[in-house]
Amino acid sequence: MEKPEVIVTREEIAKKVAELAVKIRKDYKGKNPLLIGILKGSFVFMSDLVRAVNIPVEIDFVILSSYGAGKESSGKIKLVKDVQTPIKDRHVLVVEDIVDRGLTVRFLMDYLSFRKPASVKLCALFDKPSGRKVEVPIDYVGFTVPDAFVVGYGLDYDEKFRYLPDLCVLEEQK
Ligand code: IMP
Repeated sequence: MEKPEVIVTREEIAKKVAELAVKIRKDYKGKNPLLIGILKGSFVFMSDLVRAVNIPVEIDFVILSSYGAGKESSGKIKLVKDVQTPIKDRHVLVVEDIVDRGLTVRFLMDYLSFRKPASVKLCALFDKPSGRKVEVPIDYVGFTVPDAFVVGYGLDYDEKFRYLPDLCVLEEQK
């Protein structure tokens, strides 16, 4: 397996997560927001973010099938695991690792909006605008990344590399 090359260090990620948390804390103070993470990729970001936000929040997760094994995707989004928490009249913040084509978050935002939350916003740590197929506003965004397949900090290639603390590009993508 090729050696991944670091493009965003763990220190840069930690600093950015802290900055995003300051904004989220300010916007959601007293609102008991429900943070909904999209598994599996967002699990590392979610755990760092909730602790950095450091105000009372609730969390839940969904599983959406998007990318299959490897780097290619069917283009179809399917809900594999729904939220358990009722979201009507709740302030919902969707937490995603990376927005590429935008299909995954577009699907989820539409799906959640249908259930009449008080508000629904999106926080994504990484944004790959070059891949965009559908427009989706990102309310809280961390880093813009180049048009390459990235791994680490929860993101995988074929279930590998999620454990890497830094964001990396796979060698073969250069
Ligand atoms: P979208 O529907 O193309 O925006 O897909 C977003 C989902 O695809 C994310 O939740 C990731 O799981 C996955 N994904 C997109 N780009 C990458 C990447 O560069 N590395 C790892 N996973 C990615």
